[in-house]
Amino acid sequence: MNNVIDFINVNRERYLEELKALLAIPSVSALPEHAADVRRCAEWCADEMRRVGLSNVRLFETPGNPIVYGDWLQAPGAPTILFYGHYDVQPVDPLDLWESPPFEATVRDGEIYARGAADDKGQVFMHLKAIEAHLKQNGRLPVNMKFILEGEEEVGSVNLDEFIRAHRDELKADVVVVSDSAMFARGVPSICYGLRGLVYFQIDLRGSSTDLHSGSFGGALANPGFVLAQLIAQMKDRSGHIKIPGFYDDVVPLQEAERQAWASLPFNEKQYRKDFGVPKLHGEPGFTTLERVWARPTFEVNGLLSGFTGEGAKTVLPAVAMAKVSMRLVPNQDPDTIAKLFEDYVAKIAPKTVEVKVTRMHGGKPWMTSFDNKYVQAAGRAIERGFGRAPIFTREGGSIPVVSTFQEELGLPSVLFGVGLPDENAHAPNEKLDCGNFHNGIISSAVLYDEIGKVG
Ligand code: BES
Ligand code: MN
Ligand code: MN
Repeated sequence: MNNVIDFINVNRERYLEELKALLAIPSVSALPEHAADVRRCAEWCADEMRRVGLSNVRLFETPGNPIVYGDWLQAPGAPTILFYGHYDVQPVDPLDLWESPPFEATVRDGEIYARGAADDKGQVFMHLKAIEAHLKQNGRLPVNMKFILEGEEEVGSVNLDEFIRAHRDELKADVVVVSDSAMFARGVPSICYGLRGLVYFQIDLRGSSTDLHSGSFGGALANPGFVLAQLIAQMKDRSGHIKIPGFYDDVVPLQEAERQAWASLPFNEKQYRKDFGVPKLHGEPGFTTLERVWARPTFEVNGLLSGFTGEGAKTVLPAVAMAKVSMRLVPNQDPDTIAKLFEDYVAKIAPKTVEVKVTRMHGGKPWMTSFDNKYVQAAGRAIERGFGRAPIFTREGGSIPVVSTFQEELGLPSVLFGVGLPDENAHAPNEKLDCGNFHNGIISSAVLYDEIGKVG
């Protein structure tokens, strides 16, 4: 193992230069105008997988963006890792808030800035370089490896479940490894054992067939903007408790042991409030901030649109109003069940004065695992070697829909070993990745394969 780590240390600068090439490809899955870039990125990843020494590298076409596959299966008797990551990224708007161009990766103060640096290209690249180091130094991996990258994670992984079901046998493995999450804090590496799920909706309201003069018509017909505000206002009470009937029925209550473990984590609410520039924190009574984010479901407004939003004033009665809303789910809430409860509730509370259309968008199931399995233990040792400190165990508020699919369809446990930081601006302007964490992440990944190889 030492020769592999030496190799990684010697190549530290080269890795950053190579990562820049990957970060230069604007593989924004949400925007149709980037379709060619997304494909170019898939090809780049495939080429890189070949360069580091993976075999059987190919693109699997889907109705959406291709899935990139490669493997190394020459360790008979050793366990098989199924690595999962994504090569697509979020849109970059608002562009004017970026201090350097989002697709020209720039290193400043030990951080590499670019869209996708942390989520997820940098973390995927870490594993490619760990594989390369093993193969270059020893000509072999200590495990079998099946490596898949998808190009639609940021738009809900809509074609991935089908791919997994169709390739159940080829994807057979012992454990899934994912690096697409954050450490708890700088210097505090962590392993994530729980993710929230998601259901996402667009709500469209229509009142009149066209915008109207608000003086001539105001008072005689309902205003869709106002009705939308009323609908949204009925989703939660003032404390933040969600009012959709049955919404909490399947929520698994927090365990006392979990609450105690989280209470002892180095978390400072005041600092958290300041870090994110919030005047005052807000959330469900009776729960701490970490509990609210990691173990409680939410209802959020992601976007709102109606009427005149330009400069100045315009007296108009808008014809339409639109909202994007989503709910984060926790074990054992089921997205289909919650979607139905939401649709029924909207139908019940919507007035007859407007047309209401509710469109369901992507989503995913929540996921949670016990962390006493041998693979998680192996990851703990690997992270300790790479970061000089044993990891803590966290849950996350974000969602990676496929993790529950791996559990349900393939019966596989997942190890979520992420090296991002909570303030690395994923999905926001000035996304970045700490270069030290990236480097230690390569070492940890290389050791992880070794440790998993040993535990069988
Ligand atoms: N890497 C994130 C998920 C994540 C975020 C994990 C924070 C742990 C901590 C992933 O790329 C992501 O953004 N997922 C989406 C999923 C959605 C589009 C279905 C999310 O959480 O909004
Ligand atoms: Mn991600
Ligand atoms: Mn993301």
